[in-house]
Amino acid sequence: MPEADTSDRKKEYHLEKPQQSSAFFLKGSNSHDWGFQNRLARVFNPLSGKTVMLAFDHGYFQGPTTGLERIDVTILPLAQYADALMLTRGVLRSLIPPALTNSIVMRATGGPSILKELSNERLAVSVEDAVRMNVAAMAVQVYIGGEYETQTVHNMTSLVDEANRYGIPVLGVTAVGKELTRDARYIGLATRICAELGAAFVKTYFVPEFETVTAACPVPIVIAGGKKLPELDALQMAYDAIDQGASGVDMGRNIFQSDDPIAMIKSVREVVHNGMKPQEAYELYNTLKNETA
Ligand code: R5P
Repeated sequence: MPEADTSDRKKEYHLEKPQQSSAFFLKGSNSHDWGFQNRLARVFNPLSGKTVMLAFDHGYFQGPTTGLERIDVTILPLAQYADALMLTRGVLRSLIPPALTNSIVMRATGGPSILKELSNERLAVSVEDAVRMNVAAMAVQVYIGGEYETQTVHNMTSLVDEANRYGIPVLGVTAVGKELTRDARYIGLATRICAELGAAFVKTYFVPEFETVTAACPVPIVIAGGKKLPELDALQMAYDAIDQGASGVDMGRNIFQSDDPIAMIKSVREVVHNGMKPQEAYELYNTLKNETA
């Protein structure tokens, strides 16, 4: 029998201090379970509330596109500067060392290549396999206004149903067909549909009047980088997006196709996490670039 504790240990119960319950730091994400929120906190930095995701999943329909011919050579050195890696399961298992501790956002749809109608996608990864790969989130392309709109929305809602059972957040990715106008009205429609139908966060393109898009979307939005821009323009876009309510970037080509990808991702981080102004971030980019030249 253990001896009775006779000392006055009441002070160690801190009776004067009520237990705190704090709200989760991401908008629209307070009602999820612990595992779900913990995964979101692995994608979004809890200190800044923002994320720099590095997207290099393009090969799932584009093959070895510029900058992604050798992911082991060009992308792995960037991983340490990214909060999350957005990639396919094939690349994860074949090229990403399991000792890497970045969170993983798994591309979960696929089907058509660039040679076919892109919106004809299906789910391409099971939640069981995603759990096996310890992913932080799963990403589904949704083509609002596309030929296979309903099918892609159904891809997302089916995945949300299944992923919710395991506490895995789903990222809705708004893909814009060539025939559609990328403006706040369209992007607002697409992002809101993703959120209404259960996406935990949404990825979309930055457009003028973006603050109306973020205001009307009840969950966090991250922006895609899109086609390669001059570095200052890409930094300006990241700054404007964050300034207008985005919770981060999911950037690919504007980082890995940059003249100096490491300098670029470090500069993007300053903009996203620390609010550095675009011109200052561009000067940082040039300084870092010259250091490695
Ligand atoms: C598109 O192929 C993928 O969904 C990319 O993850 C997405 O477009 C972001 O990459 P980027 O910044 O190159 O547009």
